[in-house]
Amino acid sequence: MSLHGRDLVSIRDLSREEIERLLAASRKMVPIAEGTKVATPLSDKIVAMAFFEPSTRTRLSFEAAVQRLGGRCITIADAGATSMRKGESLYDTIRMLSSYADAIVMRHPNEGAARLAARASDRPVINAGDGAGQHPTQTLLDLATMQEAFGTLTGLRVVLLGDLKYGRTVHSLAYALAQFGSELVLCSPPSLRLPEDHREELRHLGARVSVEEDIRKAVAEADVLYVTRVQKERFGDEDEYRAVAGSYRVDAPLLAGAKSRLIVMHPLPRAGEIAPEVDETPHAAYFRQAFLAVPVRMALLNEILGSGRRGG
Ligand code: NCD
Repeated sequence: MSLHGRDLVSIRDLSREEIERLLAASRKMVPIAEGTKVATPLSDKIVAMAFFEPSTRTRLSFEAAVQRLGGRCITIADAGATSMRKGESLYDTIRMLSSYADAIVMRHPNEGAARLAARASDRPVINAGDGAGQHPTQTLLDLATMQEAFGTLTGLRVVLLGDLKYGRTVHSLAYALAQFGSELVLCSPPSLRLPEDHREELRHLGARVSVEEDIRKAVAEADVLYVTRVQKERFGDEDEYRAVAGSYRVDAPLLAGAKSRLIVMHPLPRAGEIAPEVDETPHAAYFRQAFLAVPVRMALLNEILGSGRRGG
């Protein structure tokens, strides 16, 4: 189905075929993202960036994607500078914004905020992260990175390492990988396990999922090591955070036991989970992953906002 005019709130909003089509379209966007080819299908479009939580890559890669395709952005990067400071509701803010722009990209600290925004807006809303909920566009670029490295998304053994409780990127990614038939190995401190409702859903999808608490064993068998940051801002209790902070780290000795083709991914920012020495190894894929954010978001915006023809 065409994505024209549709919201993207959860990765569940996309079928496997739609994801495959977006990944194919994003490969064609790479030269435009690199600035070696010019195309301006969004020249008459304005996209609003409504970011109520810190962001570097997500907001700037969305802005770059809009501008590489000839469109323009209006941006809220600091919620403290908006009338929400005066008590304006999220509903009113988004409803008004939807009369200024052709689409809204939103990040918010509350899970479920993107769904509310989609109801408030009569223009498409793209979820750029809602609390510990979903981050579907990150998943698209994560899949693009794996597909580029392995040529497939099926049959990979993917270790999800770190904060699987609060990490929204893994909540979206685990679902997508299960749909593509990759195997998931969950590796986290006991207090940061993947929540039961997500595990139940993965079981329901027939996914191969296992738990491995020994990071060394997990890495030895992996094709992809997907590392995440402990989501400090989601902890209600400082002691709970301190108990897990710094409890895992990917470094050169750990990777000495890995398959030669292993790739290490991270949505970034990293906060000590990956030692800088890993950057120099052929395993490091996280900066390529960060670049692929631009062509992937271009492909998505082109489908949602374009003329209704399939992007490419
Ligand atoms: C992630 C996020 O915001 O969920 N960052 C990103 O979008 N690249 C991961 C994180 O903040 O740890």
